Amino acid sequence: MQGLGVVYVLLLLGICIPGQMMVQRVDRVERVASEKTVISERPKVALTFDDGPSAVYTPKLLNGLKQRGVHATFFLIGKNIEIGENAQIVKREQEEGHLIGNHTYNHVEITKLDEDSAYQELRKTNEIIEGITGESVEFMRPPFGLWKKNLEEKIPAIPVMWTVDPMDWATENVDEIVNKVVTEVEENDIILLHDCYDSSVKAALRIVDLLQAEGYDFVTVDELLLK
Ligand code: NI
Repeated sequence: MQGLGVVYVLLLLGICIPGQMMVQRVDRVERVASEKTVISERPKVALTFDDGPSAVYTPKLLNGLKQRGVHATFFLIGKNIEIGENAQIVKREQEEGHLIGNHTYNHVEITKLDEDSAYQELRKTNEIIEGITGESVEFMRPPFGLWKKNLEEKIPAIPVMWTVDPMDWATENVDEIVNKVVTEVEENDIILLHDCYDSSVKAALRIVDLLQAEGYDFVTVDELLLK
């Protein structure tokens, strides 16, 4: 409707604009308006990857996402970042436009810890990530999806759950993972996967190909949560 409004104003202005120029301008406005409409109507979906970084599988995933122009969200385990050269993978995730979140330092069930230990799990991981990216961490995913509400007051991180879980960690069958996701997925879904398995990485890239062909746009979770 905004596009039509602009066209209408231009038509009014057209009284003072030579005919040929007017036609070109209206044409252009209509074209821009229709392009905008197409973009805004594409359904959005977010891929999230827990438990990385993995020196073996995360770079393969990053290559595939880059080829497809897709941004994802990575919830990292603090101690995994400290293995070998994994910090470079975190840097690469940031440089290639992915969103990075916290998945605790030891991958612990946070509700079973006392408040101080739980806080330390998150704080330590935030510090490691921030030391690499230079940016504050805004989002976290509690391991096993279990969260204590009172921690939100202590740590400035927004817990992010998921809406589609193909249980990729429980199978090496790529088709099974892909089929579960593409049959269940709907607009604005958050898909849970893990970038520490070969089958999950292969499935993720097939999911991207299939859903992009269906017209989905892949976004980072902040675009779904903060809209
Ligand atoms: Ni996990």
